[in-house]
Amino acid sequence: MLGFNEVKIAPSLLAADFGNLAEAAGEVAVATDWLHIDVMDGHFVPNLTVGPPVVASLRKHSGAFFDCHLMMTNPGDHLESFQRAGASSVTVHVEVGGIGEVIEEMNRLGLGVGLACNPDTPFAVAEPFLERIDLLLLMTVFPGFGGQAFMPQVLPKIAEARRVIDERGLPVAVEVDGGIDLRTVSDTAAAGARVFVAGSAVFSHEQPWKAVEELRDRAIEAIKASA
Ligand code: DX5
Ligand code: ZN
Repeated sequence: MLGFNEVKIAPSLLAADFGNLAEAAGEVAVATDWLHIDVMDGHFVPNLTVGPPVVASLRKHSGAFFDCHLMMTNPGDHLESFQRAGASSVTVHVEVGGIGEVIEEMNRLGLGVGLACNPDTPFAVAEPFLERIDLLLLMTVFPGFGGQAFMPQVLPKIAEARRVIDERGLPVAVEVDGGIDLRTVSDTAAAGARVFVAGSAVFSHEQPWKAVEELRDRAIEAIKASA
């Protein structure tokens, strides 16, 4: 799914114009082959966004890796719809429970397997699943809205995840999401993140592709400096 320790910037379409998503996807395509799609159900989080029909429509315009972040209470009921719509990987929240079964279903469907933790969920809750996932998403804001302030309290958890994943030699990508900008991309990269979701920082930039390149350069600098 992702080269070990490879750095990726995943622009979050949540910060794009929902009336022009294909155009937004095109604006970043020269700089990254990932797109982060935030799915909110109005129950697990107090907000509503998009679902499989929008993913399917977008798939006609983009060959990117669709990193679908399911902020949903019952993700298991919708995995097949997301797979049919063209999702590449699907990330479910560990807080919803029943994760073992959901992972089995994702494997059956050939989806990349992501597991997300809210800022106040300890790493220990996700740790038993590390051998069975491709991506660990550590939220750096409480999910539900774009444009929130980064929570530095999550940095020790990122470092802990990095240490355990490296100790076990697992090919799990550590992703961060929420308040990622030119400053916090460095902090999270130094702590051990390798995939960086950025909404506002990318789509509020006049040239979104340039914002992606700047974020990636900063991340790589910080990783080199911390090595
Ligand atoms: C928050 C979403 C994020 C969000 C990030 O619930 O999961 O992906 O779009 O947006 P920024 O980068 O603006 O914090
Ligand atoms: Zn997200």
